[in-house]
Amino acid sequence: MKNLPKHVAIIMDGNGRWAKARGKIRTEGHFQGVKNVRNIAIYANELGIECLTLYAFSTENWKRPEDEVNYLMALPKFFFESYIKELMAKDIRIKMIGEMAAIPENARKIFMDAIKKTANNRGMILNFALNYGSHQEIVRAARKYADDVLSHKRQNDLDENGFADYLYTKDLPPLDLMIRTSGEKRLSNFLLYQSAYSEMVFTDILWPDFDRDVFDLCLKQYEQRDRRFGGLNEDKNN
Ligand code: IPE
Ligand code: IPE
Ligand code: MG
Repeated sequence: MKNLPKHVAIIMDGNGRWAKARGKIRTEGHFQGVKNVRNIAIYANELGIECLTLYAFSTENWKRPEDEVNYLMALPKFFFESYIKELMAKDIRIKMIGEMAAIPENARKIFMDAIKKTANNRGMILNFALNYGSHQEIVRAARKYADDVLSHKRQNDLDENGFADYLYTKDLPPLDLMIRTSGEKRLSNFLLYQSAYSEMVFTDILWPDFDRDVFDLCLKQYEQRDRRFGGLNEDKNN
């Protein structure tokens, strides 16, 4: 595939509706969803994508019933126990973005272990957004910057590049493609700063049904986009 995005983010939405359509409880949709994370991560790595950021739990998802939240917070254990060996063998590096402090201790530890274990891998970065919200991220960045100025670590000289260094995504490539499944057409507080010039692809497919073929179609759409970043592409007659 020519013109492959370096950094793809996916809003993995529609697990609940997937379950409902099959007369199952919502958590069964989340279970299918987490198994699909494995499939799509393996495929993205095969394709040569550098970084795949997956929206797993938003700062707003705490509003859901306690049982569902608990189920979601238990999924990292299942995911890493089932797949860490394979992810290691494929040279995949695990990272995460989001407010770690509020994540239950056991889930946090599982993530920390996986991040540590895969830190020297050189394949794709599989980056989980867990307890992530852009508003939280941006406010946190502003506070960190204010702290640095107040403690004389730096001058009041912030520019756009400098600001990006205060975001969770500071070491990741710029976001090229944002995909949302399940037909919703909103960002739901995901990577608002980073998506300024990303291409957006919305698909009606529910996350548990998002397979290699659907991913290929999204990448095909990306391939056909003309990214101008506010400038002009003379050679393309526009
Ligand atoms: C996405 O699926 C997974 C999370 C938000 C954790 P949903 O649970 O939002 O599924 P729908 O949108 O209710 O179908
Ligand atoms: C976004 O989906 C969050 C994740 C996929 C983790 P939601 O289902 O929470 O988003 P809204 O509520 O439809 O905007
Ligand atoms: Mg949803």
